Amino acid sequence: MKTQTTLVHAGDRRKLGDYIPVSTPVYASSSFFYDTMEELADVFADRRPGETYSRMGNPSTSALEEQVATLEGTDGAFATASGMAAVHLALMASLLDRRQSIVAANVLYGGSLELLRSVLRPSGIEVRFCDFCDLDAVERAVREVRPALLITETVSNPCLRVADLDRVSEIAKANDALFLVDNTFTPLLMKPFEHGADLVIHSATKYLGGHGDVLAGLVAAPRRHHEALRQAHRCLGGNLGPFEAFLVMRGVKTLSLRMRRHCANAQMVYEALKDHPAVERILFPGDPMHPDAEAVAKLMPPGQAGGAIGVDVRGGEEGAYDFVDRLKLVATSASIGDLTTLALHPSSATHRMLSAEARADLGITDGLVRLSIGAEHIADILADLRQALEAA
Ligand SMILES: Cc1ncc(COP(=O)(O)O)c(C=O)c1O
Repeated sequence: MKTQTTLVHAGDRRKLGDYIPVSTPVYASSSFFYDTMEELADVFADRRPGETYSRMGNPSTSALEEQVATLEGTDGAFATASGMAAVHLALMASLLDRRQSIVAANVLYGGSLELLRSVLRPSGIEVRFCDFCDLDAVERAVREVRPALLITETVSNPCLRVADLDRVSEIAKANDALFLVDNTFTPLLMKPFEHGADLVIHSATKYLGGHGDVLAGLVAAPRRHHEALRQAHRCLGGNLGPFEAFLVMRGVKTLSLRMRRHCANAQMVYEALKDHPAVERILFPGDPMHPDAEAVAKLMPPGQAGGAIGVDVRGGEEGAYDFVDRLKLVATSASIGDLTTLALHPSSATHRMLSAEARADLGITDGLVRLSIGAEHIADILADLRQALEAA
């Protein structure tokens, strides 16, 4: 064989031995082949397990899918190229062969709100928003819209409200609707399937990845939803690449360690800032006076209320901008869940597409800064937040 030919094939045609790698490698291969066409045909026809083409399945992404299904306590998961691709996949799969109507929480992540308002609604899908912490409002919306599905987040973004998942899921079930829960803010802390969810979504860009170095998403679901999800996943094509799957998988291995630290640090930030003179209002699910304290006590482990905190800084938008600009350790970022503590002004970033009135109705004030408390030493986080507030 000529060098040009051997260079294309050398090293690639090894069969894996009977060893097991400690960590799943990055299978950077778009397709997979077998000794015979018959074997490939059997894999295509699901008569034997295997891989064919990475949009249909890839060993690196399948390993992550198994890991996240285990995390959520369900039968399987589908990895996507971003959290938004996961939201889209879950919505599309849920609407297959069902009524084209959705009841959604009114305080979702801005991208999810935009997907519902600016993409799905104009394409003919009826979308009604309501406050999922007001069960009468949910009942009313469901009665009027007869939705195929309800969608909410475990901890709403950015106001950190916590809906009673059990009660919302009862309403969904009584009306033959599916219940989709975005668990991005609370992996390990909340188990939506134990509270009636039908599908669970993650932006793995956040706590699952955990290191601020990857965009990824997942939809986890019991077996009865797999056919619809598989079909939509293959056709929509928003699959996760193998290297990104490797990064998220590595992140999930340390999730329990990181979540403990995020929660403990956030609790201490809450204690330190709750009576600070430059803070007009503090939003934290661990606050005993939180409007949803009952749901928090039921859904989250004691003393672990997540890593996100909202602080309403005195002085409105100007006060919030000054505070954020003075931060030295804390990074200004539109993300959450990194090891680094992050700060964001939602009304000029993630929720800027809402009108001023809509933001005011939802409690997204001009002075609100969302903090994602990282894993640094608490003394350094507090010192940075205090110096930025004290200059106010
Ligand atoms: C709760 C929630 N869901 C979904 C998304 C979308 O995730 P991604 O940015 O990975 O597409 C985000 C992003 O911030 C989010 O906060």
